[in-house]
Amino acid sequence: MAGSHTPRVALVTGAAGFIGSSVTRRLASSGWNVIGIEAFTDYYDPARKRRNAAWAAEGGDVTIIERDLLDPQLDLTELVSSSDVVFHLAAQPGVRASWGEHFGEYSRRNVDATQRLLEAAVDVPRLRRFVYASSSSVYGDAEQYPTGEDDTPAPISPYGVTKLAAEHLTRLYGRLHGVPTVALRYFTVYGPRQRPDMAFHRFIRAALTDQPISLYGDGSQIREFTYVDDVVEANIRAAEATDIEAGRVYNVSGGTSISVNDALDAIAELSGRTLSIDRRPTARGDVYRTGGSVNRIRAELAWAPLVGIRDGLRAEIDWLRAELRLEEP
Ligand code: NAD
Ligand code: UGA
Repeated sequence: MAGSHTPRVALVTGAAGFIGSSVTRRLASSGWNVIGIEAFTDYYDPARKRRNAAWAAEGGDVTIIERDLLDPQLDLTELVSSSDVVFHLAAQPGVRASWGEHFGEYSRRNVDATQRLLEAAVDVPRLRRFVYASSSSVYGDAEQYPTGEDDTPAPISPYGVTKLAAEHLTRLYGRLHGVPTVALRYFTVYGPRQRPDMAFHRFIRAALTDQPISLYGDGSQIREFTYVDDVVEANIRAAEATDIEAGRVYNVSGGTSISVNDALDAIAELSGRTLSIDRRPTARGDVYRTGGSVNRIRAELAWAPLVGIRDGLRAEIDWLRAELRLEEP
């Protein structure tokens, strides 16, 4: 790493997204120069992403380049060559929307964009780490729980397929080209700035505005929910570790495995609202259960989840209450 007098430079893709803005703010407030690449795609309201970007930049030295990673005019080699660490979070997220006509967006934004960025990272002596945001969705309905990184991935959604394909690319460029890649498989991330298509955001918003909640399936499905600050910390650890072999993969899983029904009970209690539930069929591509072993990341990166589900939900409820006031006409 550069000496303490030279600020380190981080390239963060998807810097205005839910997790990318949190990573950006944390890096900037710890003295990094952050260059963000962000296309402000319209998967959800870009105004929300602009608010995220403004919040992230409050922390320090942040420059957001408003461009698409797929833009052939964008000189990625130049950007990567002047970076110490790349945090690649840009993607087309969302399990349930990845079927049918939308698949092209998933394959372009997740696979093609990652390949372009990896090509730009070949033979860049300055680059110390390339951290890729992978996903628990690569496991599909897993072989066992807690699921280990060496269990066979078998995604059951097109989204999961694209996240796994890109993860394979990071391993390939790591092993064959020496790009210092690490893939972090995040497990359902929540907390302030959570994407508006995700369960907790939708549940809390519905609770606070007295709207019905759409529940897919019977609610017995289990997730290992992971608080966003814990995910940020895993990114920092992956960036700073000195002895990770290129292509290594880690689970980043939150420590609280609960059913969606239990999460709904907690939201009702913590928000002080009575929930009205509108039952819908199970969503296509939805796995029944996620739960990851953190043995590897604990041993090699000294990372463990710190925020429990009740504290995390409280923080998301408080944030969304404030958001709703902002959104009032
Ligand atoms: P997000 O949609 O809030 O953030 C992604 C950002 O990337 C968006 O702001 C989008 O505009 C930008 N983007 C997309 N394609 C781009 C392109 N081609 N060029 C430049 N910018 C582009 O999503 P998020 O929930 O913050 O997810 C961040 C990353 O973490 C993604 O890679 C996602 O697959 C992964 N992930 C998220 C979760 C979760 O629970 N949120 C879990 C596992 C993995
Ligand atoms: C989340 C993210 O959306 C993915 O981008 C990410 O890659 C994935 O986590 C992951 O861990 O890899 P998901 O687990 O579907 O995917 O996250 P939520 O949107 O929070 O859904 C959790 C559960 O609630 C799912 O079973 C879903 O079907 C259910 N749900 C969601 C509802 O019942 N109602 C809703 O309105 C939304």
